[in-house]
Amino acid sequence: MSNLILIGFMGCGKSTLGIRLSYRLRKPFLDTDKQIENEQKMSISELFEKQGEMYFRDLETNCLKDLFDAKEEYVISTGGGIVLREENRRLLKELGTVVYLKVTPQTVYERLKNDKTRPLLKGENPFEKMNRMMEQRNRFYEDAAQIIVEADDKSIEELTDEISNIIGKKEEKQNEAASH
Ligand code: S3P
Repeated sequence: MSNLILIGFMGCGKSTLGIRLSYRLRKPFLDTDKQIENEQKMSISELFEKQGEMYFRDLETNCLKDLFDAKEEYVISTGGGIVLREENRRLLKELGTVVYLKVTPQTVYERLKNDKTRPLLKGENPFEKMNRMMEQRNRFYEDAAQIIVEADDKSIEELTDEISNIIGKKEEKQNEAASH
């Protein structure tokens, strides 16, 4: 399948960039977190509080599985923890081209230091927590991704250009190969 899927840590810009890319590539946009919130009629914070993280992770897996029945190809932004399950990493790869937006803990900290919507960053020492989580998750992002984009010092415009160019070239190659 040829969805375009953005993965990466909280605050790396998946949703904002996903919306821009969906305009650029003329594909509808889907955000797995928003999809889950709409289906469950609850915010992610409430879901974590009332049902726990495992329940949320099951919903993430179901959301990916449902995408195999979709009639259209999407630009998809995902929750930062979607790569934690081996099954999800496999599903992501099967669903299309996976792009990892790689950022440093400093970037994430600056962007999210006043954020109240991420249950996993609540509590003492959010920077340390973030650092540790990013260290643990990096190999999962790298394992799931076909394309890794350094996203720290680039504007949304620059990232949109960079990723749509990569996708354009990839599609050209595929079309060439198919015509031979
Ligand atoms: C999570 C990231 C969040 C959301 C949930 C868990 C994570 O999404 O899915 O709070 O485990 O990293 P964003 O990456 O869009 O913030």
